[in-house]
Amino acid sequence: MNDDDVRSLNSQVEAAVSGAIGRQLPDLADADPVVRRSEHADFQANAALALARRARTRPAELAGTLADALRTAEATPVAEVTVSGPGFLNLVVSDSAIWGQIAARLASTRLGVAASEQGRRTVVDYSGPNIAKDMHVGHLRTTIIGDCLARVLTFLGADVIRQNHLGDWGTQFGMLIQYLEEHPDAPWHHDQLTDGASTVSALDGLYRAARKAFDADPTFADRARARVVALQGGDGATVARWREIVAESEFAFREIYDRLGVLLQPEDSAGESFYNPWLPEVVEELTAAGIAVESDGALVALSNEITGPDGNPVTLMVRKTDGGYGYDTTDLATIRYRIRDLKADRILYVVDARQALHFTLIFEAARRAGWLTDDVDVTHVAFGTVLGPDGRPFKTRSGDTVKLMDLLDAAVDAASATVLDRSHDRSDEELATIAAQAGIGAVKYADLSTSRIKDYAFDVERMVSFNGNTGVYLQYAHTRICSILRKAADANAEIDPTIPPHSAERVLALQLDAFGDAVAEVGRDLEPHRLGGYLFDLAKAFTDFYESCPVLSAEPPVRNNRLALCQLTARTLGQGLDLLGIAAPERM
Ligand code: ARG
Repeated sequence: MNDDDVRSLNSQVEAAVSGAIGRQLPDLADADPVVRRSEHADFQANAALALARRARTRPAELAGTLADALRTAEATPVAEVTVSGPGFLNLVVSDSAIWGQIAARLASTRLGVAASEQGRRTVVDYSGPNIAKDMHVGHLRTTIIGDCLARVLTFLGADVIRQNHLGDWGTQFGMLIQYLEEHPDAPWHHDQLTDGASTVSALDGLYRAARKAFDADPTFADRARARVVALQGGDGATVARWREIVAESEFAFREIYDRLGVLLQPEDSAGESFYNPWLPEVVEELTAAGIAVESDGALVALSNEITGPDGNPVTLMVRKTDGGYGYDTTDLATIRYRIRDLKADRILYVVDARQALHFTLIFEAARRAGWLTDDVDVTHVAFGTVLGPDGRPFKTRSGDTVKLMDLLDAAVDAASATVLDRSHDRSDEELATIAAQAGIGAVKYADLSTSRIKDYAFDVERMVSFNGNTGVYLQYAHTRICSILRKAADANAEIDPTIPPHSAERVLALQLDAFGDAVAEVGRDLEPHRLGGYLFDLAKAFTDFYESCPVLSAEPPVRNNRLALCQLTARTLGQGLDLLGIAAPERM
């Protein structure tokens, strides 16, 4: 533990109940004390119900025994214990313990949150858009979720390595390059484009045209195939053109990253082509180990664990009949590199749920090859699909996939309208900044506050609402507290731990104290919506507090304690929003 770490009351109470169990029932010392926040007291422990049978007694009796043990225990924050119902333990912590926690968290730059992931080298693979293709809504989810996890894990002390696995290699580039050679006047460089048109949109259009030509004109198809060979063979001019396409596409992705405010930097890019030099030796290794086997002229890795609908084992394509390598081979080389060269302790693949089978097979092959051992934790952090506002697959009116930039524009426009209603005294420039923060925050929050694996409907109007569980609601809650604090010259006065807290102060204080546990849980279970839910509950607890406990009109020492609660709530909301990657302006 660090000096700065503040152990939550929840975990202190858990330890107290565990201690009582250990003294009364040494055999069951490791049992879960089942401590939860409660409406009837500060906490409730249900251990007696869970353990009575194993302890050969009745729950009420066991609860009584544990209550006695808790009452005589030393150095616990528990001040009152009562038994209720069939054997619940209702636990109230002391007033001084409550205020002590608030003071300790306020005194810490990291709000007392323990560095539970300290030193754990964690690769986060996210975003991974495809070169010369527009980013679509699926890429929105991986980018937002991955960035949130990178932020949370960094805050928890992990040594985070962000990896942007760009789709920058494949035979399609031969076709595109050949088409560009034959249509030198087609504009696609960012300095040739006007009206905010993006380079990837232009390239995407040219790629479609190239496909058409490929299907319609056999002589073009032959020239395109020759170009693929030239690219793979390292022909100077062809490779230079490919590099240009990658650079221009990255330019367009960067515009989206900047707008979203994600952490990804150019040096985080390690696209598919990065792994090319290792592919032959990876294939050799897998072949020598008997994992990759011949099948109709190709090399495949058959799963030992999973069979397809036809009853045969499912496969990874290790080398195609034409000798080429694809997505599967690259991901095999990638996992080997991340374990062997990056020395990862943990690898997270933040990728669409539809790739679940792919990753199961990659992990299985990596285990069999001996690259992936029990010391390394790998997870496919899967997520569901973004649907249109009507809950159907998300398409434009003309049936195309929806472009990310258009979605972000729509969110910022909707946020402008909402913000305009509220912020009358702002300059146009300030309003534009606020609308961007609110609109982008709304998109991110709508995504991060739904359980990852679920599909969700992209409904801009609901996202930017000031009411309900939205990013705008949380940002606004934060600004309201900042405004209270601006009006108090004495906002940093000392807490008086002897003042009995009002019930709404108690609820707020306990919620504030649970921040570190909520963040640690996200670091462990990789479910950002838990943090979103926590912040929403915190904002509601603050509203209830503010309704029943006047702050600025109160007299010291009550006023000081309330100001401290305001301070800690503002900082916790600000920090929590930052971990979600959402701006927390002080005024809106
Ligand atoms: N480019 C891929 C796509 O758009 C995502 C890459 C995910 N990462 C990986 N290591 N396969 O679907």
